[in-house]
Amino acid sequence: MIPKPVSFNQGKGSLVFDGTVDVRPYDGPPESYRLTVSSEGVTVEAADAAGEFYARQTLRQLGGPDAFRAAPIGGPPTLPVCVVEDRPRFAWRGVMLDVARHFLPKPDLLRYVELLAVHKLNVLHLHLTDDQGWRFESKKFPRLHEIGGWRPSSRYGDRRYGGRTNRPHGGYYTQDDLREVVAYAAQRHITVVPEIDVPGHSQAAIAAYPELGVQGGGVWTDWGVNPNVLKADESTVDFYRQVFDELLDVFPAEVIGLGGDEAEGGDGRFVRRIAQHLVRRGRRPYGWDEVLGVGPLPTKTVIASWRGEEAGLTALERGHDVVMCPEKHVYLDYRQSDRDDEPIPVGTVLTWEDVYAYEPAAADRVLGAQANLWTEHLDSPRRLDYAAFPRLCAFAEVVWSPVPHTTPATPLSPVTSPSTPALRDAEEFRSRLTHHHLPRLDALGVEYRPLSGPRPWQMLPGVPGHPR
Ligand code: ACM
Repeated sequence: MIPKPVSFNQGKGSLVFDGTVDVRPYDGPPESYRLTVSSEGVTVEAADAAGEFYARQTLRQLGGPDAFRAAPIGGPPTLPVCVVEDRPRFAWRGVMLDVARHFLPKPDLLRYVELLAVHKLNVLHLHLTDDQGWRFESKKFPRLHEIGGWRPSSRYGDRRYGGRTNRPHGGYYTQDDLREVVAYAAQRHITVVPEIDVPGHSQAAIAAYPELGVQGGGVWTDWGVNPNVLKADESTVDFYRQVFDELLDVFPAEVIGLGGDEAEGGDGRFVRRIAQHLVRRGRRPYGWDEVLGVGPLPTKTVIASWRGEEAGLTALERGHDVVMCPEKHVYLDYRQSDRDDEPIPVGTVLTWEDVYAYEPAAADRVLGAQANLWTEHLDSPRRLDYAAFPRLCAFAEVVWSPVPHTTPATPLSPVTSPSTPALRDAEEFRSRLTHHHLPRLDALGVEYRPLSGPRPWQMLPGVPGHPR
């Protein structure tokens, strides 16, 4: 069923909103709501607490951009009289944040949680470990964060050009920091899905405990795919079982990431055994699509299909649930245009229009989609804002709203079949971006990429990327 779109009774008046909301139950699917603004007041009918939360986000949107400031600057907002019936298209509306390549300090991470909530996104996949940094405090194996959390310098720009920062970088979250992030996210109906990446992308752990690695070496100071991987012997697997147990104590999410990507030369048994351990502990493993190649995995394993959607379709055939995140559509670290002034341009061109045109394959076991923010070249919240927005506004709509069927049904033109959906109207969305989304982001202080191109201080001349 396609939910009714927002319906405004235009010209029917308005309400000066004093903040009072009459909340009632609603007989709708999870996360759904009906919001009624009349000249008498506001009523929210909500299927559950999440539905009420989303109704309140919509109320904020109706209040105009100033409703997104940290404190009110005028009188109470005036809302248009309207009825909104709304529910999400997908249950998994995710964003992956790579806090391993560049550490994101806790206040900035909390700010991102709020930005996700504003966009009705509900999964924050936290990539906590990689070759270049380990960000999860381990009480059992403290060298992981004490040694693995720091590197003496970083590559600056693409690795082929030799640039370096020559400045140390690092940081980690204490377990209590992460409990706080989880609780803050839960207040906003966001589930934090943590990931510890095995058996590749593990150089930071190997720097801390050299016996874990096939080879030794320090925390990596380069970008790219590191050929060193974890040993698949019993003691290394057991070490990681204990690390994952610590992770499970902090993160209540059912789904727990174990990585599994780009581990050439890695032993598939490693991933299988960690997956089995997570299932024994009552959780569901979450792996990048390479894990489909490691041999039989527990069916409960959820697959993140990133190299395209084909792997996701294979996973569905094998009985797995799938989250679609194909790089060509939702890798928000990729360059936003083919202009020369894009800062550190990498990957293929991925405009907001491209994100908006993305249609995740629909099937029962496609839980939804997620946008991925890898941070090799995003070393600050300002760089992150530039990469994330406004593309994340477009993504949020893709995963929340079904494609509108724009062809009106008449006796002579059959109803548009759901299997051939009309494309989203990018020009119509451009107008909403310009008049609604961007003013909201301005009020929130998000340093997005303007539609016309980077502002002068968002450019990074002389820092080479490597466009594909
Ligand atoms: C990935 O982009 N390596 C999952």
